[in-house]
Amino acid sequence: MSKLRDRGAGKLVAGAAPADDHVIGDQRRHWEETFAANPEMYGPEPSEPGRYAATRFVAEELSAVLELGAGQGRDTLELLRHGLEVHALDFAPDALVGIAALAGPELAGRLRTTVHDVRSALPYPERSFDACYSHMLFTMALTTEELDALAGEVHRVLRPGGLCIYTVRHTGDAHYGAGRSLGDDRYENGGFVIHFFDRSLVERLAARFDLEDVTAFEEGSLPRQLWRVTMRRA
Ligand SMILES: C[S@@+](CC[C@H](N)C(=O)[O-])C[C@H]1O[C@@H](n2cnc3c(N)ncnc32)[C@H](O)[C@@H]1O
Repeated sequence: MSKLRDRGAGKLVAGAAPADDHVIGDQRRHWEETFAANPEMYGPEPSEPGRYAATRFVAEELSAVLELGAGQGRDTLELLRHGLEVHALDFAPDALVGIAALAGPELAGRLRTTVHDVRSALPYPERSFDACYSHMLFTMALTTEELDALAGEVHRVLRPGGLCIYTVRHTGDAHYGAGRSLGDDRYENGGFVIHFFDRSLVERLAARFDLEDVTAFEEGSLPRQLWRVTMRRA
């Protein structure tokens, strides 16, 4: 049985949440219900990392972008508006339908959507994308083992030299340690499960990448304390 370090409690836990199907199943329902009740949950404006990623991808003359955990598409639309070809992935199907509607005929020609749970292998051939963007998907209910597998999948579907920009809530966040502990630095609060990252987890996921930058920023009214991580497929 694998042993993962419970970084929050500072102790080793055997096989921390090896089969989290019940947790993730609940999370999918919870996200679907939350999006249905809140058509503009994060507002219509792009996020700060969404603006950064769009500008950076254009500056590097990248084209095909995979967005993981696109949600209701505030950043998908920003990437499309910058002329990028966006493959938006999420396990909440209605949210993806909503993005296509928001994109309208002008932008929709460069939008593809995929309903998928990132705990399974990404449904794309290797070296399909120039870039991967993800705002707050890595920081969901995924275990460290699942995050390792996801980072491996991102590496597989990126072209050599491809950029990955993702954001996570970190252990300096006010909600870290609050609510119900699920092990592996994951806490359920208000129905949402968050995996809070420490620096060692960022470095672990970057093992097969060149880690370029980790920038702290805040979002929302709590405010959430996040890191924007930029790493490049070597
Ligand atoms: C915190 S929201 C962020 C949404 C969007 N990136 C934004 O910032 O507006 C996290 C998103 O990840 C999706 N998600 C969570 N776990 C997932 C999983 N295992 N597979 C695919 N999508 C997942 C949720 O449905 C939700 O849309």
